[in-house]
Amino acid sequence: MITVAGLGFVGLTTALGLAEKGNIVYGFDVDNNKLQTIKNKKLPFFEAGMQEILEKHVNNNFKITQTLEDAVQNSKIIILCVGTPSDETGKADLKYIKSALDTILSSIKKDDKKIIVTKSTIPPSTTQKEIIPYIESKGFKTGVDIFVANNPEFLREGHAWDDFINPDRIVIGSNDDYAKEVMYQIYKTFEVPVHFVSLNTGEFIKYLSNTFLATLISYSNEMSIIADKIGEIDIKTAFKIFHEDKRWYGNPANMQTYAYPGCGFGGYCLPKDTQALVRKSLEFDYNPKILESVLKVNSEIKPHWISKIEKDVPKDSTLTILGLSFKPESDDIRQTPVSEIIRLLSEKGYKKIMAYDPISNDLFKKTYNFEIKYANTFEEAVNYSENIIIATGWKEFIQKKELLKNKNIYDLRYVL
Ligand SMILES: NC(=O)c1ccc[n+]([C@@H]2O[C@H](COP(=O)([O-])OP(=O)(O)OC[C@H]3O[C@@H](n4cnc5c(N)ncnc54)[C@H](O)[C@@H]3O)[C@@H](O)[C@H]2O)c1
Repeated sequence: MITVAGLGFVGLTTALGLAEKGNIVYGFDVDNNKLQTIKNKKLPFFEAGMQEILEKHVNNNFKITQTLEDAVQNSKIIILCVGTPSDETGKADLKYIKSALDTILSSIKKDDKKIIVTKSTIPPSTTQKEIIPYIESKGFKTGVDIFVANNPEFLREGHAWDDFINPDRIVIGSNDDYAKEVMYQIYKTFEVPVHFVSLNTGEFIKYLSNTFLATLISYSNEMSIIADKIGEIDIKTAFKIFHEDKRWYGNPANMQTYAYPGCGFGGYCLPKDTQALVRKSLEFDYNPKILESVLKVNSEIKPHWISKIEKDVPKDSTLTILGLSFKPESDDIRQTPVSEIIRLLSEKGYKKIMAYDPISNDLFKKTYNFEIKYANTFEEAVNYSENIIIATGWKEFIQKKELLKNKNIYDLRYVL
């Protein structure tokens, strides 16, 4: 049995979805009007298809409770779906989470071994830094007499039921095997990938998703402002044609490779074209903040990697750099991010560097005047050093990754 605390969009959908899957679910909310509405088999908001589902499950698999105590006592899992609004400083306000925890914790005993799952959206590190200490401040030991997990929700209002019942994937953030096992029992019937990740990763994935979507929208709006300023640009048509790029549809090219971290973009086009549109936009009296930030982050990512390398690798060590072209399957080394990586490493005092690229060694050597060695083969490069920096995601490196076992690797492209 499961208790869902907070019966808003997410909580009620979750409660009904888990009831539909055959679980007995108790639902609780501090808003008595809402509880009464649901008890009367009326959906408290509009969401296509859910009224019938509500009528089917209320008082059957889905039980409304005015006092949380019985529900919590009878449940193995308690899912928090309360709101997490911004406080006056912009931080996620945990007051509803804490007040729900107060009620829940006062209803359970230590040897009940309950699992408390946060489905509300909470910023990365919140479970570890705030929820666990809060629970422990009430005399419980997490991982011993209470188990915690998070389970971010990706449903979209307007499609809530379908998104919940047919999700793309399920994410369980937990550092606890018992919690993972019990959560798996709930979700295995959904027949989609169930990913078990750390507490912080679980929370981070939700923000990865929402901030990316927000960025795309603001990016599109910034571009519409620039277009308006320049004039005689049919914005709607331009965006529709932009959407015909086959990279959106994944075959054979793929937009996913752009929404992926690395060590920055390079090559002939993205750096200069972004720069040129920033300049053009300034000429038309508009300061394009997103595009400027795009360039800024593109330069900041390189020193970020260097600081990670510097932390572990003494200055007199050898370093092997795999990949010189700005992207795999190309020998183009114009504005390749690795040139900045090598420049920064040299500036920091690393002198023993060997580089290898399947096809761009010569061109790179001719173009950039670095005092580094070049290897003729992958094997020669890998034998040179214990410290390996992967700067381009060439297939050869992935295919031969066995040879990189036991090396200290900086995978700047997250390809291994
Ligand atoms: N709405 C969405 O599309 C969506 C999607 C994914 C994730 N989320 C996240 O899910 C969480 C809930 O969002 P929502 O849209 O369902 O919010 P909501 O405001 O619709 O629902 C929250 C409910 O929690 C209740 N509540 C508050 N304190 C409580 C307590 N102590 N005990 C029991 N109930 C309590 C409120 O009365 C309310 O009914 C938020 O963290 C939100 O960011 C929302």
